[in-house]
Amino acid sequence: MTRLASKYDAINLAQGFPDFSCPPELKRAAQKALEEDYNQYSLTWGAPILREAIAAKARKYNEIEAEPDENIIVTCGTTEAMVASQLAILDPGDELVIFSPHYENYAPDAVISGARPRYFALDGEEGFAIDEEKFKKVFNSKTRGIILNTPNNPSGKVFSKRELKLVADLCNDHDLVCFTDEIYEHILYDGSEHISIASFPSMRERTVTISGFSKTYSVTGWRVGYAIAERKMAEAIKKMHDFLTVGAPHPLQIACTTALALPDSYYTKLKKDYQKKRDMLFSSLESFGFRCAKPSGAYYIWSDFSGIDPKSNDVEFAENLVKHSGVAGVPGSSFYSNGSGTKKIRFTFSKKVKTLEAACERLERMGQKSVSLG
Ligand SMILES: Cc1ncc(COP(=O)(O)O)c(C=O)c1O
Repeated sequence: MTRLASKYDAINLAQGFPDFSCPPELKRAAQKALEEDYNQYSLTWGAPILREAIAAKARKYNEIEAEPDENIIVTCGTTEAMVASQLAILDPGDELVIFSPHYENYAPDAVISGARPRYFALDGEEGFAIDEEKFKKVFNSKTRGIILNTPNNPSGKVFSKRELKLVADLCNDHDLVCFTDEIYEHILYDGSEHISIASFPSMRERTVTISGFSKTYSVTGWRVGYAIAERKMAEAIKKMHDFLTVGAPHPLQIACTTALALPDSYYTKLKKDYQKKRDMLFSSLESFGFRCAKPSGAYYIWSDFSGIDPKSNDVEFAENLVKHSGVAGVPGSSFYSNGSGTKKIRFTFSKKVKTLEAACERLERMGQKSVSLG
């Protein structure tokens, strides 16, 4: 969709990256790190100063105790942390439970690892709540792990303590590893709270907590993320990471220590700014006839277009929208592996207010012309 957006000169509300600058302190820190000659490989599992800063952040924000040398691996983004962890821990034939709709990379990661994804769909009409009885039936003797993603892309769901407890109990009952992707951990709305499942004592030894700098600090191009895990799992992830990428960009790792030193006010403003953008895009989409799930976290709106165009499927709708209205979103079926989501489209609001206003104007024109997108 990003390619089509550029072909049709459309406003790209498809891919989740900001069109605004990262904090200026971070640019200066990156320049300084280059000048100071952090231009060779770092230690393969990450610059010590960054791992120390991550350990301090994990203790304070996530309530996770981690030893920088034992438990933390700095990777090329959350993306690498997830695939390296799955490759390190899963064996061919293992089953991995994944909630749907889900971020696109999890299923290919499982396939690369030889594992078999087992999907459990959460229904937007039901507020993406977990049907406990049905959920419990997904687990069997081959299940080896589960993927969590909270706050969630694309649904905006933030898993509650009760839901995390359910997942934790199942992990303990079936001796599973939980791979949790918490990249949107600071992007939360309406007072919702981020809880890391690894902060539960029973999950400390069986969780790989994955996060990164892309979203919180608006530096998706820096490619710096990390995994936190118990010593034996961490050792396996370190080896896999070494063979996959050797290391994340050293000067940018150094600059990421400046990110972790930003004051609390940075995170308060981040939430406030994104909440304003969420509210703006949400009310516009609803007034144009989309039925939307209001996100509690992350920066996407999961939108149903049946009321606007009952005939088209998601790919046709998204292609027509980008061609005729000049706004790009992601077809809903990209977030399922079984062909569901064909009446959904995902829009991001990780953009300047000006960009969102222009997108809303274009969508409004589409509504006024009553263009049959199908
Ligand atoms: C849930 C989720 N995880 C991971 C990523 C990618 O993160 P990174 O840039 O750290 O590789 C994204 C990007 O959109 C995402 O939505």
